[in-house]
Amino acid sequence: MCGIVGFIGDAKDANAVDIVIEGLKKLEYRGYDSSGIAIVEQNGQLVVRKKKGRISNLEEFIADENLRSGIGIGHTRWATHGEPSDANAHPHMDASGRIAIVHNGIVENYAELKKELIEEHGIEFRSETDTEVIAQLIGLYYDGDIEAAVHKAIERMTGAYSIGVICSEEPNKMVAYRKDSPLIVGLGSNCNFIASDIPALLRHVRQIYLIENNETVILTKNNVKILDSQLREVHRDVFNVTWDAEAAEKEGYDHFMLKEIHEQPKGIRETVTRRMDDDGNIVLDGINMTKEDLEKFDRVYIVACGTAYHAGLIGKFAIEKLAGISVEVDIASEFRYRDPFVNDRTLFIAISQSGETLDTLAALREAKQKGARILSVVNVVGSSVARESDDVFYTWAGPEIAVASTKAYTTQLVCMYLIGLYMGRTKGVLDDETYKKYVDGLLEMPEKVQEILRQENRIEALAKKLYKRNNVFFIGRGNDAAVSYEGSLKLKEISYINSFAIAAGELKHGTIALIEQDTLVVALATQDRLLDKMVSNIQECRTRGAYIVGIAKKGRDSVEEHSDDIIWIPECSDELSPLLTVIPLQLLSYFIAKLRGCDIDKPKNLAKSVTVE
Ligand code: AGP
Repeated sequence: MCGIVGFIGDAKDANAVDIVIEGLKKLEYRGYDSSGIAIVEQNGQLVVRKKKGRISNLEEFIADENLRSGIGIGHTRWATHGEPSDANAHPHMDASGRIAIVHNGIVENYAELKKELIEEHGIEFRSETDTEVIAQLIGLYYDGDIEAAVHKAIERMTGAYSIGVICSEEPNKMVAYRKDSPLIVGLGSNCNFIASDIPALLRHVRQIYLIENNETVILTKNNVKILDSQLREVHRDVFNVTWDAEAAEKEGYDHFMLKEIHEQPKGIRETVTRRMDDDGNIVLDGINMTKEDLEKFDRVYIVACGTAYHAGLIGKFAIEKLAGISVEVDIASEFRYRDPFVNDRTLFIAISQSGETLDTLAALREAKQKGARILSVVNVVGSSVARESDDVFYTWAGPEIAVASTKAYTTQLVCMYLIGLYMGRTKGVLDDETYKKYVDGLLEMPEKVQEILRQENRIEALAKKLYKRNNVFFIGRGNDAAVSYEGSLKLKEISYINSFAIAAGELKHGTIALIEQDTLVVALATQDRLLDKMVSNIQECRTRGAYIVGIAKKGRDSVEEHSDDIIWIPECSDELSPLLTVIPLQLLSYFIAKLRGCDIDKPKNLAKSVTVE
């Protein structure tokens, strides 16, 4: 997600340019594709400098200008609307060049506001971003009172956003506002700060205000005023930061992986709700396939690597069931060398968190060269896979820092369901009742994931019983088989325990020979329609001495009866259960790896993006 930093003080004591850029560097861990800064120079001129790429590009760009100011805002951009570029980087200015803003979040109704600003007010936009709409709105309403102009603009907007605003007409004041995206205020001596996150300020202040939703902050160098949604001033207790810099980047979590596991309710919610119109209809931005296009396809491939491939396995079930078309799932490194059957009636779906995995990119290029329509599900805006696709469907998981993929996986699953629903509805093969069941089920998922996360201590206690194991089997049927592969990969890649996943029905065809006294078997048994058969498989393992950890929906006592430990997931449909079943597996792997003293965020031999063959 984007990073915001702001400073207001006295240019004689400190240069806002240095402080803001230093703060942006502390936010680099969040992932970004461009950065920028805005100041009001001492001659009253608003100056904005911004560059695509690393913050060092920005520093190089302004190196010879000797910019100095007592007020400044800065931004690291994680693109959501508009590819990474100098023009799309923040800060953005209004038409008059008097107002600059930085923004973290998404303005959902930016398109209609932009249309109004262009058609009714003749505004000429300089970028593709939703953020510039905010700047132009504030500029439109500005009549000498920047606070009032910000409030008028905010009244027009919907979405999730935190913003920082400065105005050359009022250089001794900074305005900030929070709605959903995080925002904090740092309290200094004869200076004050705003930021998205604590690390940006830690070098200067340890006393902060945590700003709450729908609150406005008015800052001068020696005063901070917080207003509630009714513009009444509110008191806020000071929060004293005791974390060190590294802990602050993880917002107090011990590892990025655990932080990102806990960000999944938000990632799922944002990936679903921002594609839902007021009537509950799914509106898939970035996908332009018509009914004719969809009916032309007689073959669908889902191609990916690792965790993304495991998401594709669920995508197969979802798209086949919802859109009534056969789907093949391939590991990218296999697809590209097996001379696959591809033509202009083929839909090729690439899934990639980074959008830079070479195997996936090469498979995409092979399919494209053979005439396929390319749809990609990607987390990094403007990445290679996204740029080379005909249609792109972004997961809104935000930057995933830990090598082990968690929130990207669950948001990829959401995209698989949404694509299936979109295709089925567009083709006219999906009845309204089924459509609504899925949509309602997806909307309930964030809270159900949160309910499992509240079991964290119980899962950590289970990890303490299991962390010394050296061989672990994951078994399941249907969707549970697909999730068991993901659970096995999570355990392998961060704890280095040898683990193996297999469709439970396949055990008797050889693998069960390995089951012996005390072999650890994690049995996923959430598919009601396959429950009896899964319980039989569990019994087969248990009679041979296996130690069973069962994962089941609440109330499925037959699973508990034949398990040594049980982790319950909330009630849900068989089809949507992967969104929940994977959570205990992520947590179990995390705590086992932690107990084994592993480098969880950066496991040995692994990279976050595998850009080589
Ligand atoms: C997942 O935990 C791994 N880090 C790895 O399997 C990853 O999913 C795979 O390399 C694909 O990466 P991508 O999604 O960025 O293409």
